[in-house]
Amino acid sequence: MMITILGIESSCDDTSAAVIRDGVILSNVIAGQAVHERYGGVVPELASRAHQQNIIPVVHDALKQAGVLKEEISAVAFTRGPGLLGSLLVGTSFAKGFSSALNIPMIEVNHLQAHVLAHFIKEDKDDLNQPAFPFLCLLVSGGNSQIILVKNYDNMEIIGKTIDDAAGEAFDKCAKVMGLGYPGGPVVDRLAKMGNSDKYIFSKPRLEGYDYSFSGLKTSFLYFLRDELKQDSDFIEKNKNDLCASLQKTIVDILMDKLLKASEDLGIKEVAVAGGVSANSSLRSAFEEYSFKYGWRIHIPKFAYTTDNAAMVAISGYYKYLDNEFVNHDVAPYARVLI
Ligand code: KG4
Repeated sequence: MMITILGIESSCDDTSAAVIRDGVILSNVIAGQAVHERYGGVVPELASRAHQQNIIPVVHDALKQAGVLKEEISAVAFTRGPGLLGSLLVGTSFAKGFSSALNIPMIEVNHLQAHVLAHFIKEDKDDLNQPAFPFLCLLVSGGNSQIILVKNYDNMEIIGKTIDDAAGEAFDKCAKVMGLGYPGGPVVDRLAKMGNSDKYIFSKPRLEGYDYSFSGLKTSFLYFLRDELKQDSDFIEKNKNDLCASLQKTIVDILMDKLLKASEDLGIKEVAVAGGVSANSSLRSAFEEYSFKYGWRIHIPKFAYTTDNAAMVAISGYYKYLDNEFVNHDVAPYARVLI
């Protein structure tokens, strides 16, 4: 019997629905929310309202693109958390209604685990490019920077995490100081391509173990600009590309140094990257370089699976379905939860 999972993602500002059949992706529809752009960040109340408007058309499109009737769905998987509570409520409530109406089981998915399991989405049934257990996954997004030891689909251990800002926040906050808009990560990436990454040296944290810290970099970047602007009020404008390239190099070096340490200490050469910041071109190149230099077998997600998406929720639901891990209709979302 075929197992067909509908995945629903609504943890932040992307409403997404996806259909996965026997581990193979059939559709992944994502509706972003432009409404937040003018506020320089996600406004929770506006996000949940936009999810309410988007959810039915997005699910409709996902089923249509997959060529699947709703009666063919085996179970509905939804993001239970972590995320914005009002946003999560929309996806959770929709999943409850869908599950009741069709009398099919409901599966809860942890958003962070889903980012990791995105590596198991098959593009077709012959796609064998999945990571082997155990592997290390660098999860880097706007809210997280973690090194995860992945022992199995449902057994993950965070061995390193940020003690303050996430890598995405470091990109976004430094970009904001340069007046580059929100989210600044992709803009820094684009401008960095035209800059010299060795022009400026920014301080790196000296932390034991595998933990990260990015707040010191943000502060030193801010003070550096403040001092330079006193001499030349056009400093940022004149040096934008070099500033972006140097900042990006520092962030990527910080991320890769700890990942290499974890890989060497644990003797694991199977290494993956996930989350919004995994779209960064310099981070992707660093993975290629480390693969060559240290014999890593690397797993870099397709761009469609780097940001929030329901395909990763559906694949997580698929593995839980195989283990009969279902939830009751009294399930409530949670804003905060570990992996
Ligand atoms: O996983 P994600 O979509 O959701 C949140 O956790 O919010 O990650 C978004 C983060 C933002 O901080 C954004 O600036 C960053 O990912 N990001 C990038 C790039 N694309 C997205 N950072 C650096 N370079 C990129 N190309």
